[in-house]
Amino acid sequence: MSRCLLLVFAVATGACGREQRGKYLIGFSQANLGEPWRVTMNAEIAARAADFPELEIVYADAQQDNAKQVADVENFLRQQIDLLIISPNEAKPLTAVVRRAYEAKIPVIVLDREVEGDSYTTFIGADNREIGRAAGEYAATLLGGKGLVVEVKGLPGSTPARDRSDGFREAIAAFPDIRIIHDPVANWLREEALTQMEAALSAQHKIDLVYAHNDPMAVGAYLAAKAKGRDGEMKFIGIDGLPGLDGGRQAVADGRLAATFVYPTGGKEAVEIAWQILRGETVPHRITLPTERITK
Ligand code: FRU
Repeated sequence: MSRCLLLVFAVATGACGREQRGKYLIGFSQANLGEPWRVTMNAEIAARAADFPELEIVYADAQQDNAKQVADVENFLRQQIDLLIISPNEAKPLTAVVRRAYEAKIPVIVLDREVEGDSYTTFIGADNREIGRAAGEYAATLLGGKGLVVEVKGLPGSTPARDRSDGFREAIAAFPDIRIIHDPVANWLREEALTQMEAALSAQHKIDLVYAHNDPMAVGAYLAAKAKGRDGEMKFIGIDGLPGLDGGRQAVADGRLAATFVYPTGGKEAVEIAWQILRGETVPHRITLPTERITK
């Protein structure tokens, strides 16, 4: 409201008009909308926001492009948003613009993927290191403590890829007979995982388990193995656990994946926390969402 007061003798701006009507404008900068998990996040945000008539949300899709996402946030700042929600494509390239918003006194909610430092109001997301560790422990159980693993990695500059790898490796370190023999990057994408897995299958005559940083990549790897008639030789673990026909839950139910770990989008929580912040309430600097292992 203070910005509104400052402008009270000036020409009424869009922002001022909104606030007079008791409306808050939230800019939501999404990393991409090419992946089902992110489409679900947007849908959860929209559904929860419908319960708060005072909230108006404008959406931007960065299409996996850091420069576009920086421009999207700058555009929001020009629109005089009251709060920013951002799920950053990669951490480092988005850190400065997030800090700029925060230092301009715009509350910032960072969702799912992190930025560097702590110039934001609150981070909401599950603990990816913990999920990686849980996946590693379950892999060790499936393998009986011995086996050859292919790890299919997400986009390297995005923090869940780093944390899901670290946690997994930490857990399997307790099992000297479990070895990662191939660890391609597939940037979170099913098609890239399929291609990378074809290369892994050509290079490795024996693979016991594939750990992919998300379900689309796990399914991509599965399809590559199936096309070579080798899917029965190995187990597949993914992360996300989306419901629906194309989701990881169904892949587990069908026996394509041995397990997945729920990675909540945090969309609903982001809207609720945004509301609290805009109402002047103090919120925690970090809100950790729960995970869950899903098997048949
Ligand atoms: C979607 C996604 C999810 C993954 C998350 C990590 O872009 O790749 O599948 O769990 O991002 O940030």
